[in-house]
Amino acid sequence: MFYSEDLIEEIRLQNDIVSVVSGYVRLQRRGNNYFGLCPFHNEKSPSFSVSPGKQMYYCFGCGAGGSVFNFIMQYENYTFPEAVQFLANRAGISLPEQEFSEEARRARDLRSSVLELNKTAAKFYYYQLRSPQGQRGMEYLKNRALSDETMQHFGLGFAGPDGKLLYRYLKKQGVSDQLLKESGLMQVNERQGMYDKFWNRVMFPIMDANHRVIGFGGRVMGDGKPKYLNSPETVIFDKSRNLYGLNFARSSKENYLLVCEGYMDVIAMHQAGFTNAVASLGTALTSQHATILKRYTDEVILTYDSDEAGVRAALRAIPMLKEAGVSTRVLHMNPCKDPDEFIKTYGTDAFRERIDQAENSFLFELSVLEKSYDMKDPDSKTRFFQAVAAKIAGMELEIERENYIEAVVARYQTSYEGMRRMVLNYLMQGAPVRTAPRPSVERERRTEKDSGILKSQRLLLTRLAEYPELFAAVSAYVRPEDFTDGIYREVAGMLFDQLAQNQLNPARIVNHFTEPDQQRQVAQIFNTDLPTETIEEQEKAIADSIRLIISNSTEQRKSLLEPTDLQGLQNLMMESRKRMADLKKLHISLPRGKE
Ligand code: CTP
Ligand code: MN
Repeated sequence: MFYSEDLIEEIRLQNDIVSVVSGYVRLQRRGNNYFGLCPFHNEKSPSFSVSPGKQMYYCFGCGAGGSVFNFIMQYENYTFPEAVQFLANRAGISLPEQEFSEEARRARDLRSSVLELNKTAAKFYYYQLRSPQGQRGMEYLKNRALSDETMQHFGLGFAGPDGKLLYRYLKKQGVSDQLLKESGLMQVNERQGMYDKFWNRVMFPIMDANHRVIGFGGRVMGDGKPKYLNSPETVIFDKSRNLYGLNFARSSKENYLLVCEGYMDVIAMHQAGFTNAVASLGTALTSQHATILKRYTDEVILTYDSDEAGVRAALRAIPMLKEAGVSTRVLHMNPCKDPDEFIKTYGTDAFRERIDQAENSFLFELSVLEKSYDMKDPDSKTRFFQAVAAKIAGMELEIERENYIEAVVARYQTSYEGMRRMVLNYLMQGAPVRTAPRPSVERERRTEKDSGILKSQRLLLTRLAEYPELFAAVSAYVRPEDFTDGIYREVAGMLFDQLAQNQLNPARIVNHFTEPDQQRQVAQIFNTDLPTETIEEQEKAIADSIRLIISNSTEQRKSLLEPTDLQGLQNLMMESRKRMADLKKLHISLPRGKE
């Protein structure tokens, strides 16, 4: 930790979680909490909750959760110190200058170190390209019609033919082999030891949405293989989440994003003024990509290559985008292969025209489907329309089905009534009309796995955080030691301390832990709900939990006794009997009229 806990706490207090999250997610009040669509997974009904009382967020669908710091880290892909800086800035709190001692520098977390190293490498490649040694690279890029300004904008660089240049440079700066290995910038073999992963290539730094270099792509300057070499996945580089060009595209004024296949396409489009272009690199579009795209836009235009692979990629991407709530159109590139080539051949205006003409994704799917039917043969044509009707029947909204029936009729000059009846037929046969799973169902599925005892422990801690007035009654019976799991016991200890001092602050407990995994677990502990209806049922559930927690605690202590320790066993049994007898007096009463 670089900043004192008091400072962190001050920053947290000045950044109300509801107001911070509202900047990213549309929230609606429901009872004491706010709900919205989770920004970390695809969903249609809101299971993402933000609690102003606890100053925490928690998603009942995917289990994401934590304090306002975790939210910013998760959303912006920031390290903890970066999230601290961001929120301090937001609240107008100035941070003390950080003097990094050698020790502190070594202790920096791995992600920060790898980020720093990537930045150094990017600068190194950048200067190489602009030095006499980089001439070949410079010629190659100029040949591909890139201007100096574009090369600078994208931070393009060059890795020379000497396979140890970067290695020696970084070693001179005192970077450890261990860190070099983690960075993905190096390779190792027995003969040469460690050497540069990239050499004799033009270099494309890959930046995340916040302009930080998280990896590289390198292209050969001719026909060598592989054409592109990419950084391996590292602690900061996850290919299934990052989109090349998003750092610029996110601030474009257009209300749609262009999604293409690669580096050169993105760069060519940006150079031509289409600054809303992004690409998934060396992988097909994933559902995480779709979730991230949805943060910035409701519409995507796919500008994939016109070859078979590009069509297949589009067919895979469309349902994924739909699932994320993004509507998609497909741009036709023919007779060119990709956007780079198209813009070079026909120019900017022609490309803009193609954008305007981009085809609705459903009709695009039909054009592809059509190719596997012989439309001149009546039987085959009927089968095609059946397939179309089945697809339409799978749509969620009646108005949507209606609109598509009309579009199909107009395009294929077929009968409206015939088409409509065919769709109805499929609907009546129970074609899989998909509805989003309700959060409560997901919630149950998620918690099924862990045992009832942990659930009871969570429920009690959640309720204590929600109704601190319960503490007097509860603490007469339950002690933090009765919580059995390691992290539960620790959380209970801190919560009991806070409550005893009348200083309830669950978010502070989240930030006491340093591992995101633990922080998520704490968020879960404080967000456990049972599907109870009445206040009486809730009170009973709390009392039941207390009984279960105490009897489980006795059982566990019993199992820890030496088998020969009869005295110990006798003491334990006596104590246990007394606790159970006391419990008869337990009375849990929740404040009326709060929920
Ligand atoms: N790609 C890759 N590894 C390869 C080939 C391709 O990672 N061996 C990725 C790159 O991100 C590339 C994208 O897939 O940008 C599309 O590949 P391709 O169409 O072959 O390359 P272009 O973008 O057309 O690149 P160029 O114009 O430089 O040939
Ligand atoms: Mn190309």
